[in-house]
Amino acid sequence: MKGIILAGGSATRLYPLSKAISKQIMPVYDKPMIYYPLSALMLAGIREVLVISTPRDLPMFEELLGDGSRLGMKLEYKVQLVPNGLAQAFVLGKEFLNGEPGCLILGDNMFYGQHFGHMLKDAVAEVQKGGACIFGYEVADPRAYGVVEFEHLTPTLSQGEGAAVESVLRVKSLEEKPAEPKSNYAVPGLYFYDETVCEKAANLQPSARGEYEITDLNKLYLQEGTLKVKLFSRGFAWLDTGNCDSLLDAGNFIATIQNRQGFYVSCIEEIAWRNGWITTDHLAALGKEMKTAYGRYLERIAAKSER
Ligand code: G1P
Repeated sequence: MKGIILAGGSATRLYPLSKAISKQIMPVYDKPMIYYPLSALMLAGIREVLVISTPRDLPMFEELLGDGSRLGMKLEYKVQLVPNGLAQAFVLGKEFLNGEPGCLILGDNMFYGQHFGHMLKDAVAEVQKGGACIFGYEVADPRAYGVVEFEHLTPTLSQGEGAAVESVLRVKSLEEKPAEPKSNYAVPGLYFYDETVCEKAANLQPSARGEYEITDLNKLYLQEGTLKVKLFSRGFAWLDTGNCDSLLDAGNFIATIQNRQGFYVSCIEEIAWRNGWITTDHLAALGKEMKTAYGRYLERIAAKSER
């Protein structure tokens, strides 16, 4: 499975912050925002990733992440000339996916919680059987999101104590930014699709707001009867970075967790190492390059040497 990070858009809700630089390069506490979605793909075991952004911002992501070899990964880059919708990721990413299944994550979506890696790997396994897998997350006000409604909401916890995800549920409807949502379950910007995704994306029509909507793509899977939805449980964090308050909250949340536990959140070098993609010596060398607490952290976990 390959991954795509969509890091485009003009982020006007963050002006003037985002006037001259990409939102997804901005700091969320101690690391650039794109580290968080990249780390989610890595936790899913995805090693080949395409980053899509604007002509202005793409070079900055390339400078930040390079070809991925430092993380034992393969990163590629693609320009999105016109920000005309999330589903376009699978038109722009067709060559990259080359007929394989793909996972799309939005460059400003941040996830944190126990068993996240297992849940992602479950989603990979689901779509390898065919179809699509999306997620539901209960929010107080879902009107700004894709909203999913269920036929029967009788979840049973999946196996394993404290599992992050409840059982797969049957979807009744999907709506993009509804004025009157039919449920409180928002659909986070993390989507797993089988190999038919590029073909489906190519046949979409623009919505009333002129965008190729990811919700319309998901609806095609729903009509086909192959759309699966998994729910994040209430202890799980899906953080928003849409405006300056939520951006600050997200940074404070990461700082609180990291400083309390001493474990870094979404540390891409650590995940690459734990995945066995880079050696312990390489991890220590990456740490040495940085004169920061982040660098010392990498050296410290490398010195412990237990993955
Ligand atoms: C997009 C999607 C929406 C989804 C959200 C998650 O919204 O269209 O379905 O719930 O991302 O972040 P947008 O960021 O375009 O407002």
